Amino acid sequence: MTSSSHSSASTTLGAEVTPRHIAIIMDGNGRWARRRGVPVAQGHKEGGEAVQRCVRAALKNEVPFLTLYAFSSENWRRSHEEVGELTSLLRFYLKHKLADLHRQGVRLRIIGEPEHFGAAVCQELQRAEEKTAQNKRLTMLLALSYGGRAEMVGAARSLACKVEAGLLHADDIDEAALSASLQTHDIPDPDVIVRTSGEKRLSNFLLWQSAYAELIFLEKLWPDFQESDFSEIIKRYARRQRRFGGRPSGEEKASS
Ligand code: IPE
Ligand code: IPE
Ligand code: MG
Repeated sequence: MTSSSHSSASTTLGAEVTPRHIAIIMDGNGRWARRRGVPVAQGHKEGGEAVQRCVRAALKNEVPFLTLYAFSSENWRRSHEEVGELTSLLRFYLKHKLADLHRQGVRLRIIGEPEHFGAAVCQELQRAEEKTAQNKRLTMLLALSYGGRAEMVGAARSLACKVEAGLLHADDIDEAALSASLQTHDIPDPDVIVRTSGEKRLSNFLLWQSAYAELIFLEKLWPDFQESDFSEIIKRYARRQRRFGGRPSGEEKASS
């Protein structure tokens, strides 16, 4: 067994009281808008407000890593108009809210393939990452044009290139080597994956990293997400018993 087959969050059984890394599939903006008879763009805009509440809650609760799934590699199937609205919203936040995040000690990191949003957006994202690179309070990963399968293909390809160049033996490819080739190579695996809107699927999110994540599904739609929901997630997580394939310590004693 390689060391990477343990969660990097905890090598002991049972849940840490506070999760180190919470990852959220922010779903339900469309339904929120439809229920109110307003354009989908309004749902995404309200979703942006929810992002701000969520980041505030992560800071208050001293959670050091937060990943937000903002746009999947499959979301390009949406209309040109909706993609345009989401892109504008992203640019609005980069322009008007980044300074605030920076002041609060948030380090922004992008995962996925943001180059698909075009050179201008990419440059703005890169600047935002550079500006906030030294911040230590909260690392916020924004998943943009992200797909777990694409990320794994990228990792496999980079390992294959190293083998081809004679820098690596095929036999040396293990879980640690693959983890180290992912975009999240320096980020602990998520302790919890949350999805709003009542859907119960991962939709290509952090497929490798979610191996031992606790899953929490909330019925409420993402624009309705409040700071109190974040605290509730932490409480629910603390009640979970993580085993990582082992036995809880009480049981171990009983059977020996
Ligand atoms: C999530 O909300 C935001 C993105 C996927 C960009 P949706 O737009 O998927 O909302 P629903 O699922 O249609 O309600
Ligand atoms: C997942 O939501 C992607 C994001 C929240 C960014 P989707 O709404 O795209 O997922 P499906 O299509 O319902 O699985
Ligand atoms: Mg959806």
